[in-house]
Amino acid sequence: MGQLLSSPIITPPTPVLREKPASNDGGRDDDSNRDNDNLIPILDKAEGHFWFPKNGNKIIDACGGAGVACLGHGRPDVIASMVDQLKEYQYVSYTHFASKPVQDVSDWLVRSTDGKMQKVFLMCSGSEAVEAAIKLSREYFLWTGEPQRVNFITRWESYHGTTMGSLSASGHVARRAPFEPVLLGARFHKISSCNPYRQQLDGESDTDFVARKVAELKAEFQRLGPDTVAAVILEPVVGAALGCAPAVHGYLRAIKALCEQHGALLVLDEVMCGMGRTGTLHAWQHEDVTPDLQTIGKGFAGGYMPASALLVGSKVASAMQRSSGRVFTHGHTYQNHPVVAAAALKVQHIIEENGLLDNVQVQGRLLERVLRKRLGQHPHVGDIRGRGLFWGIEFVRDKATKEPFAPELQVAQRVYLAAMKKFRVLVYAGQGCAGNGRGDHVMVMPAYDISSRMVASIAERVACAVEDAFQDISA
Ligand SMILES: Cc1ncc(COP(=O)(O)O)c(C=O)c1O
Repeated sequence: MGQLLSSPIITPPTPVLREKPASNDGGRDDDSNRDNDNLIPILDKAEGHFWFPKNGNKIIDACGGAGVACLGHGRPDVIASMVDQLKEYQYVSYTHFASKPVQDVSDWLVRSTDGKMQKVFLMCSGSEAVEAAIKLSREYFLWTGEPQRVNFITRWESYHGTTMGSLSASGHVARRAPFEPVLLGARFHKISSCNPYRQQLDGESDTDFVARKVAELKAEFQRLGPDTVAAVILEPVVGAALGCAPAVHGYLRAIKALCEQHGALLVLDEVMCGMGRTGTLHAWQHEDVTPDLQTIGKGFAGGYMPASALLVGSKVASAMQRSSGRVFTHGHTYQNHPVVAAAALKVQHIIEENGLLDNVQVQGRLLERVLRKRLGQHPHVGDIRGRGLFWGIEFVRDKATKEPFAPELQVAQRVYLAAMKKFRVLVYAGQGCAGNGRGDHVMVMPAYDISSRMVASIAERVACAVEDAFQDISA
């Protein structure tokens, strides 16, 4: 069975991984329960905070798949809201009718930003939302009489999606590699990420570090010609490409100020870090730095439906006046899908009514504490970083020099396999966090309604998996 991006690591599994024994599965983890092309287990069902593969195992979901299942699996209340909508109508083309669920979820999103974001485009995937953000940035400058703004500045060690525009914006070396010659390289320009673990100099204050980062962006504006830049696109807390790396305090505010100074838009991609994952609904609310455009996905509908959105701030929204013919030249068949809207609104109501953002903060602090206690001194754990229930663990060959492991060793994948097979906990593995496609990390992203007991169990199992995997890896 063919599959795209079946694993968070997109390089094909090495023979080492294929030959690894099935450990203590008691013979149940046999090939009949696997997708033969990919050697990944076939799922039987998912319920609450657990995955149940066909081999009879019960695996704790400590990452919501790809950071998606923020309320766990199989909630009857979310399913009921979808079924209720299906009984009314299952589809509406956005060119013909508006729909109440879409209006309701859009109003809810606007309110969630205190009206700072004013318009909502509802879509199905993060890539679509980023693609729309790129195109709306362009069209905004046509409306406002600056058609020469054709450049975008984005960062290395970032991931914005899999379509040609969003991949051009991405700084994920491995995912770009096969397509590099056909990406939109002439328009998408890269600056470095904001990664204090690898970039902050000994003795350098956060203020000086941020100033250095801002100077780099400023130089890029100058190099391109400041009035040719349409937008700067970045993740406020970098997800899969860097392993849950929050921007250093002051960075977002300084970048926003520089964008304003040069007349460019700031697009914050919150597809992974947004919708509560880091403990505030929107990641930008940590520092109250309002973007001009914002993308959301993943936790928006928690995986009950494929949901994403582009949120539009006041500057762009007020330029977009239908009366003067300024309609965004963009659209998808499944845009404004009513069942997507119903699922997303229900998920958000549950988070709101149950005070789950507070739980994200409380359990996030516990997760951090236990991970640091158990793994902080491990000779191959270089960094533990994150915010809320969004934590990354970076592995290094040498803790003093921060030298990463050779990519072929697939260290993150080995930790992920040990976690799943031996300790029955699902984490998300990634590569590339050290730059140039090197560096391994795993991400821990449990559901927002997780209990302290479960958090402690997850952290302990992840720590055991790391210790176990490194028994096999020769540094
Ligand atoms: C920050 C970010 N932006 C965009 C995307 C693309 O979203 P999707 O895979 O839903 O297209 C992702 C996916 O991981 C992401 O993490």
